[in-house]
Amino acid sequence: MHFIVNGLQHDLLLDTRMSLLDMLRERLALTGTKKGCNQGACGACTVLVEGERINACLALAVQYENRPITTIEGLGDAEELHALQRAFIAHDGFQCGYCTPGQICSAIGMAREAARGVPSAVTTDLVMEEVELSHDELRERMSGNLCRCGAHNGIVEAIQATFVR
Ligand code: FES
Repeated sequence: MHFIVNGLQHDLLLDTRMSLLDMLRERLALTGTKKGCNQGACGACTVLVEGERINACLALAVQYENRPITTIEGLGDAEELHALQRAFIAHDGFQCGYCTPGQICSAIGMAREAARGVPSAVTTDLVMEEVELSHDELRERMSGNLCRCGAHNGIVEAIQATFVR
């Protein structure tokens, strides 16, 4: 099967029962995407597929053949972080950091959803979106991503600073 992850092509022989999360972590060594609950409840495994956020633990890898997938490794690097990654640092948007990759991927997908009303299923760009969101609406839209350390205030501040007008 043929996968496109962070702009790179991968041809893999896979068990068709393998989740997208396990494929990313175990076959491609992209361990930035985290496994928390492994049942769709915590958001730690959130990645972007064609710019739309999904829980990778609930998805079969085979469903995402030939569709551009972006993980936290594809958003920035040590020389130039993504603007939201910089905002998480500036606003103390993490403590242990385990939920952070999922929070960041989810927030990027969330901003696209909020800007367009519905998730875009066709565009692949990760252009920064600016949106009008109240604090409560932002919290609601990010409610699928849990932080057990309780860093939600910093997380919300970082997202607001990056995306909210
Ligand atoms: Fe996928 Fe928790 S690991 S939602």
